[in-house]
Amino acid sequence: MTDIQGKRILLGLSGGIAAYKAAELTRLLTQAGAEVRVVMTEAACRFITPVTMQALSGNPVHTDLWDARVSNNMAHIELSRGCDAIVVAPASADFLAKLALGLCDDLLSTLCLARECRLLAAPAMNLQMWGNPATQRNLKQLRADGIAILGPASGDQACGEVGMGRMLEAEEIFEEIDACFQPRLLAGKRVLVTAGPTFEPIDTVRGIANTSSGKMGYAVARAARDAGAAVTLVSGPTALAAPRGLERIDVSSAQQMYDAVMARVAKADVFIGVAAVADYRPTEAKGHKLKKGTGEITLQLRPNPDILGTVATRRNAPFCVGFAAETENLEANADAKRRRKKVPLLAANLAQHAFGADDNQLILFDDQGRHELPRAPKIVLARALIAHIAKLLPKK
Ligand code: C5P
Repeated sequence: MTDIQGKRILLGLSGGIAAYKAAELTRLLTQAGAEVRVVMTEAACRFITPVTMQALSGNPVHTDLWDARVSNNMAHIELSRGCDAIVVAPASADFLAKLALGLCDDLLSTLCLARECRLLAAPAMNLQMWGNPATQRNLKQLRADGIAILGPASGDQACGEVGMGRMLEAEEIFEEIDACFQPRLLAGKRVLVTAGPTFEPIDTVRGIANTSSGKMGYAVARAARDAGAAVTLVSGPTALAAPRGLERIDVSSAQQMYDAVMARVAKADVFIGVAAVADYRPTEAKGHKLKKGTGEITLQLRPNPDILGTVATRRNAPFCVGFAAETENLEANADAKRRRKKVPLLAANLAQHAFGADDNQLILFDDQGRHELPRAPKIVLARALIAHIAKLLPKK
């Protein structure tokens, strides 16, 4: 479940080969419960047909400023009223230029000018067109006008060149649309998040790890970013792509995670330790691959530094949030852990349900007591956690 459920999205397509991604975006939006209306420029219709977009959106597609199907023949007004967001994807260099100047010589540009709602644009163009000073000038103007520019990304382009100008993937645009509906509860705050497992080397090829996937920590980082915070994510080894628009620091061992956090914590307003940090590491990591023998061997371990505990007891500590993954006696253990670590808020979950899964269930413990967040996708829980943190943050 996302906040896109029940939203009315007007999806505009201008001309570009990336128009095929708009088909997938439409599917994602309708599956998430949005009402999607599609408007296409004449050039867009050369790349993908209105029939495809009609079938996927379940609504007639509009292409013409002069549309007799609209009772008052003012399609631009009719369509732009009552929608929660207009998303132009792909937004060509020409379309961005038009938007920047306020030109309105077709249906899509006219309804953008007549809009009352927010406007998001996902640029898609060749790298030279993207880098051209005229395009950059237009983008500056569009941002100043409050238009959200999504991407673009860098990579292979349809023209055979490689560089900046590739439209974001449908999934990424979907996430940005979802994000634009989030309340900016942490605007102006700096949030430091740890996520994922750690890896404690035994020798050059082996180590001690755990089954944390990083999904909960990444969801928390994304939710904090969507709430308007500047986010730094210190991540142990995971297979996940970093959410866009935040700083990601990759680490491997608990000591590296500790060092990365300590180097940044002084600037943080909030620290959220979601990582499953190894409590112990081998006393000595061998500099070569250990040879197999016949007898038993003993691995000597020494404790790792407690990152959360160290941050929480600093002078001028940020607002600290811990996670507790327990396998039994969840509530008693979690509450005791909150007091021991001296953190104002602790989120507890059952490790056997949480590790690796897409859903989770959390119980939050704070000075007021316990607050249960029922089973839901991790991003939904992460958003609820961020809202809870925003309520507890000291008011300045
Ligand atoms: O004591 P326990 O490992 O169960 O505590 C879990 C919480 O402490 C999590 O928030 C985790 O990220 C954090 N932690 C840490 N450094 C450690 C161990 C745990 O920051 N060495």
